[in-house]
Amino acid sequence: MRKLLVTSALPYANGSIHLGHLVEYIQTDIWVRYQKMSGNETYYICADDTHGTPVMLKAEEEKITPDELVKRVHQEHDLDFKEFNINFDHFYSTNSIENKELSESIYNALNDNDKILSKEIDQFFDESKQMFLPDRFIKGICPKCEAKDQYGDSCEKCGATYSPTDLKNAYSVLSGTEPIRKKTLHYFFKLSECTEFLKKWIKNDTLQPEAQNKLKEWFEMGLKDWDISRDAPYFGFEIPNAPGKYFYVWLDAPIGYMASFKKFAQMNNLSFDEFWKKESTTELIHFIGKDILYFHALFWPATLNYSDHRTPTKIFTHGFLTVNGEKMSKSRGTFITARSYLEHIKDPNFLRYYYATKLNSSMEDLDLNLDDFVAKNNSDLIGKFINIPSRTSGFVGKFFNHALMPLTSIKSEEGLMILKKIKDAKQTVDQHYEAREFSKLVKFIMQLIEELNEYISKTEPWKLAKEDQQLKSDSSLHEICSVCLKSFRSLSIYLTPIIPNLCEKIAAFYDEEIFNSFNLIQDDALKIKSYKHLLKRIEQDSIDAMVNSNSAEV
Ligand code: 2FM
Ligand code: ZN
Repeated sequence: MRKLLVTSALPYANGSIHLGHLVEYIQTDIWVRYQKMSGNETYYICADDTHGTPVMLKAEEEKITPDELVKRVHQEHDLDFKEFNINFDHFYSTNSIENKELSESIYNALNDNDKILSKEIDQFFDESKQMFLPDRFIKGICPKCEAKDQYGDSCEKCGATYSPTDLKNAYSVLSGTEPIRKKTLHYFFKLSECTEFLKKWIKNDTLQPEAQNKLKEWFEMGLKDWDISRDAPYFGFEIPNAPGKYFYVWLDAPIGYMASFKKFAQMNNLSFDEFWKKESTTELIHFIGKDILYFHALFWPATLNYSDHRTPTKIFTHGFLTVNGEKMSKSRGTFITARSYLEHIKDPNFLRYYYATKLNSSMEDLDLNLDDFVAKNNSDLIGKFINIPSRTSGFVGKFFNHALMPLTSIKSEEGLMILKKIKDAKQTVDQHYEAREFSKLVKFIMQLIEELNEYISKTEPWKLAKEDQQLKSDSSLHEICSVCLKSFRSLSIYLTPIIPNLCEKIAAFYDEEIFNSFNLIQDDALKIKSYKHLLKRIEQDSIDAMVNSNSAEV
């Protein structure tokens, strides 16, 4: 049995969960559910990413404290995740005592290992606000293409990247005033000294090939030391022995993975060290988006290694979400929050299923095409999958006292072949889940579902039921329905990590609480309950209403 600690990136506490975020949470959740069902000891850990200037300013705007904001957002996020069936073992906060202590001790260890240096640097300062300005809070004219109102780090018009000092006519986004340049002492993690270690570390198959290539590019450009401090006022943890200096949010955010697990371990009597000590034999797996690869594949393993901890076993990176082929956009109404989806479409199974049909192990972007979303769900889940019990279960209730035939009574070659094929599918199912090839997996299962539907169409159980034949418990009608409903149970088990909520209802149909393992019993004479409608079609109107309500907010 493997022991796995799995994480998804920590969502910022200054905004709502949206459909872009959900790509990653759904991807991770499917993988974790699969590992758990396979009997591996797996913990899915997450937290809100609470620190930094945007949270501080948002709280100020709302006239509440950052703590109040962070608490409120945590409740919102928690509910969104629950309603999308994202089954964290622990969803914590980086604004916690465990995270403060771990951040301090890791910083101290890096310091002891001579991996921290301090030096004076020149920063933009907003005199009216009395604060140093992060790059994103400075705007001005792009030095390359002269576009107005561009951010301090890059131009949205021409794509150039530069430092805020290169901007022309720079102004503070907070006050509109021209910022001055001011010297301040900052603390740096000596990432440049970690290059050799990191070059060796990436050889362990920790990253996808595309991610490895990206790292090679970064190595060629040379790794720069990393500024890990920010000046007050800042919402975060103060750096030990450095009054008025705070850890940059990206220092304590990944440590939040550890802190969340630490709290969870305490509550559940698990060993924290078993998962984090240097020689740990457990697996540490991070799911992330490609925009934060630098933090997870360079800063994070180096921070862990030089503070005497284990490093990640795998970093699984995914691409971005586009909606209808374009970047999510507020004006087009495609910047859709989790809450808005729940209000309009209601059922999380549809998004989970649709994302699964698109997800693979690459870093390519994936597209949510809203027409395709409606068509695919209605056709696959309702027209094909749920169609199996809805076409067969009634007869079992009516004529055979709700009992399916035991395997030993099934005589037809075709029926036995179908059952065997579905049982044997487990090996391919395992391969695809493990490799995060969910799109291949869904295609493979859908093919089995289609074959089963063809079997039903061909054997026409409704005709057999009408025929004036003697309906005995070993009739061919009973046999056909039993093959279908035994198969349907196995197929539902295969799909449980993807659509757990729907499969829970299906489990109840077989008088089981949930499908929590891959126990594909086909031999017994299973009993079924009366079939109740499991899923409602998605109506185009609900999509239109969702898109309209999101564009109306702009
Ligand atoms: O990019 C983001 O949304 C960050 N809040 C992710 C943090 S992940 C981790 F390192 F904490
Ligand atoms: Zn430009």
